[in-house]
Amino acid sequence: MPALQLPLLDPPPAPDLPDGFIIRPGSAEAGAQLGLWQALQAVLAAAPPVPTRVKGGGQTSAAMTNCGPLGWWSDAKGYRYEPRNPATGQPWPPIPKDFLDIVQKVTAKSPWPGFSPDACLINFYGPGAKMGLHQDKDEADFGQPIVTVCLGDTADFMVGGFKRADKPQVFRVRSGDVLLMGGASRMRFHGVRKVHSGTSPVSDLAGRYSLTFRKAL
Ligand code: CO
Repeated sequence: MPALQLPLLDPPPAPDLPDGFIIRPGSAEAGAQLGLWQALQAVLAAAPPVPTRVKGGGQTSAAMTNCGPLGWWSDAKGYRYEPRNPATGQPWPPIPKDFLDIVQKVTAKSPWPGFSPDACLINFYGPGAKMGLHQDKDEADFGQPIVTVCLGDTADFMVGGFKRADKPQVFRVRSGDVLLMGGASRMRFHGVRKVHSGTSPVSDLAGRYSLTFRKAL
């Protein structure tokens, strides 16, 4: 009875999300997604993604890089923001205007209209990549949100509680969707359960990039 599986394959488009966790579906139209993808090329050329290391010494299945005045970094010394790319010794490339434009457009009509990121962590999810439940807590002011622009493959995103063991809600995010996590939800555990390979609407983009904008300092 395949019809019974449909609700599992296609979660409701407007899930009941906790206060402070906002999804703006389709914030980047097809043309804007292409613009983001083209702008991303320069960032990736200047700061190639590297495997994301975790404190214990292992690494996640996602790869990471950054743009902006500060970049999030992780190695045996721990998690922090760095003004230079430790892999190259160079400053991080600037945040492209196309990136800032969509952040400005989305946050202008949000609880955080003055949001001005100084860091953009870019995570890349190839086939099979995922990200376990974690909190974003290396920023100076938890009154500032984390703003995520999704590009490429569709993914199942998890939003949990304030303890890792809390059972997360899972909902689908697509290329062009923007997520805002702030206020009462700023410290919620979150992650990526699954990436649906081959669903990217952006030609030449295989996989999923999440562009996560932060105010680190
Ligand atoms: Co995070």
